[in-house]
Amino acid sequence: MIDRARLLLVSLALLLLPAAARSATDPAVEKRIDELVAKMTLEEKIGQLNQYSSSFDLTGPPPPDDRAKARYDQIKKGLVGSMLNVTGAAATRAAQELAVKNSRLGIPLIFGYDVIHGYRTAFPIPLGETASWDVEAMERSARIAAIEASASGLHWTFAPMVDIARDARWGRIMEGAGEDPYLGALAAAARVRGFQGKDLAAVDTIAACAKHYAAYGFAEAGRDYNTVDISEQTLRNVVLPPFKAAVDAGVATLMNSFNEIGGTPATASVHLQREILKGEWGFDGFVVSDWGSIGELVPHGVARDAREAAKLAIAAGSDMDMESGAYVAELKGLVESGAVPVGAVDEAVRRVLRVKFRLGLFDDPYRYSDAEREKRLVGAPEHAAAARDVARKSIVLLKNEGSLLPLDKARGRIAVIGPLAADPDTPLGNWRGSAVKNTAVTLLDGIKAAVGPSVEVRYAEGAKLVTAETDMGRELTLNTDDRSGFAAAEQAAKGADVVVMALGENAFQAGEGRSQAEIGLKGVQADLLRAVRAVNPKIVLVLQNGRPLALQDIAPLAPAMVEAWHLGSQSGHAIADVLFGEHNPSGKLPVSFPRVVGQVPIYYNAKHTGRGDPASGGMVFWSHYTDVPNTPLFPFGHGLSYTRFEYSGLKLGAAEIAKGGKVPVEVTLKNAGSRAGTEVVQLYVRDLVGSVTRPVKELKGFQRVALAPGESRRVTFTLGTDDLAFYTAAGRWEAEPGEFEVFVGGSSAETQSARFVLR
Ligand code: NOJ
Repeated sequence: MIDRARLLLVSLALLLLPAAARSATDPAVEKRIDELVAKMTLEEKIGQLNQYSSSFDLTGPPPPDDRAKARYDQIKKGLVGSMLNVTGAAATRAAQELAVKNSRLGIPLIFGYDVIHGYRTAFPIPLGETASWDVEAMERSARIAAIEASASGLHWTFAPMVDIARDARWGRIMEGAGEDPYLGALAAAARVRGFQGKDLAAVDTIAACAKHYAAYGFAEAGRDYNTVDISEQTLRNVVLPPFKAAVDAGVATLMNSFNEIGGTPATASVHLQREILKGEWGFDGFVVSDWGSIGELVPHGVARDAREAAKLAIAAGSDMDMESGAYVAELKGLVESGAVPVGAVDEAVRRVLRVKFRLGLFDDPYRYSDAEREKRLVGAPEHAAAARDVARKSIVLLKNEGSLLPLDKARGRIAVIGPLAADPDTPLGNWRGSAVKNTAVTLLDGIKAAVGPSVEVRYAEGAKLVTAETDMGRELTLNTDDRSGFAAAEQAAKGADVVVMALGENAFQAGEGRSQAEIGLKGVQADLLRAVRAVNPKIVLVLQNGRPLALQDIAPLAPAMVEAWHLGSQSGHAIADVLFGEHNPSGKLPVSFPRVVGQVPIYYNAKHTGRGDPASGGMVFWSHYTDVPNTPLFPFGHGLSYTRFEYSGLKLGAAEIAKGGKVPVEVTLKNAGSRAGTEVVQLYVRDLVGSVTRPVKELKGFQRVALAPGESRRVTFTLGTDDLAFYTAAGRWEAEPGEFEVFVGGSSAETQSARFVLR
């Protein structure tokens, strides 16, 4: 049934939905909502569904230009329910006063902001942080971000982004947890817990927003905002699990997405918002549109004008309109003409008010706008230690031939070369909240702070990566021809004991609207690497980037490679901790690194196909490329350590189980090297025959295990029937009987395996 046809049914069902959703909520709050809604005019109700971005100085006099003045007056009349991009105790207080002191019912505004990986103290970009596979660390960084943001008057972050992404061309891959739904679900829940704490009404917690609902990460060809056309299977099995986990963790809000899925823009999708989210999952918070996405139903071509767009969006369950103005302009007429039942508006309003009540805004609308707390907590020194800890856990040692790493910090000559080596801005990454430009600890400074007086540190920039700055920040004008710094770089490298090369992507190369068709090292960076290698091949390549890079030609040029993402405020110290062995790396890739861009989308949990190996079709007629292997350069789950881990003795506690039964899984992990280290032990499963085709491997568990040199431990997992469940051909979430293969190892590509049967 197409979405338009569903609308009629949905309109009828609308009035019933609030009652159903209410069952899980606090009766006292619901009563207060009832009383308030009963007092509200239709305009005031619609006002609660209207969100504007700050476009004028809220602490000064009313704005002079007409559009801003009109918005300012709308706040005073109660025609705005939320603002985004108002930050700071003073500005949020001033804006709140406009609403509370002037509007008839004094309903407080809710202030939202993109607090994506820290507020003032920058943590690693979410993709990088997920490489820690440390859910406590993820929760902690979100907690600190919430402490800082709430002290700055904010109530609500547009995070976590929980979009699964398999395509490194898509610039927003940096904002998510990578390609895997299981890891993604755990990361989503951890971040929600971190932002929201135990009590949403506490002054140091903020409402989270799981976004972008749904399938935004599946844009065709990795081009941002592009068409998505995926099956219900992929939607349910791959895309939705992190959203479901966020809802189960109590996420207060969701944001829908810009993309269409199979012909229906997500913002107009009854299936996603009403049937699955609010119906099947019983979500009782609200859904905010993405920026202007209600208005964009017109260019999408499913609505003739803003009026039709508003009608489709409210019917589909988009509760709050971010910046399109369609609701505030059109909903009144739609309700008065009978085209939209007032129950649809009431339901959305109730959801928005529910979150405001939960935040405690009706008890004290100014409780978050506290200048003293802001001064004390935003960028507090104690947050730096946490940022360094998370950052070093996020680093992935990609290769380390001849144990070039760790380096000696007591003696020797180190050449530090590259456009990102002394750049204090790039590590802050895109979507950096209110982190202050150029304030990250650089790699060069981190190295200098780590080494003793007998170490000579030489530095040469070698090449500039970026040559332009715009008011949007540093933009993508890349240096493609200036090699004037190469000679100095070669000079620095000559005679050095080791060269640390800092290459990758600048902060704004990844992120929204930053899709790329090529995902290698841009500009003259590869040439610089080759020039330096010609004089000194002992190269440790430190990558700082927001997406997986395709480095087939680059990898052989450096015996050691360290993936350092955009690690945030403490980046340089964190990388130095790893380079000198203060911290033994334990990060594992949350996403596959392709050899070449032509392999994307590439992901470990792919299907086998009918011709998945040469045995099925001979040398030619099987599913492969003739010019590059099928495997990635670095697989999902890959990451080395300065010690060596050995796996042995995989044992399943049962050869056969009944539905509801459990399979104990045991393996021995030994630290066979000479340093203490932590290994992320990964458990994967394959369902060998299903009612629909099943992935060759799916992550179902992992543990971070710390071992002293020579120590062994029996690591145990328990696989339950629930872990085997998926969205079947019958449209049910359940495990199907049959044979399963269990894999355990240190990456998705290096595993031992054993089988069992589910009866
Ligand atoms: C558009 C982005 O897609 C979304 O993630 C963000 O939260 C909003 N803009 C608000 O900045």
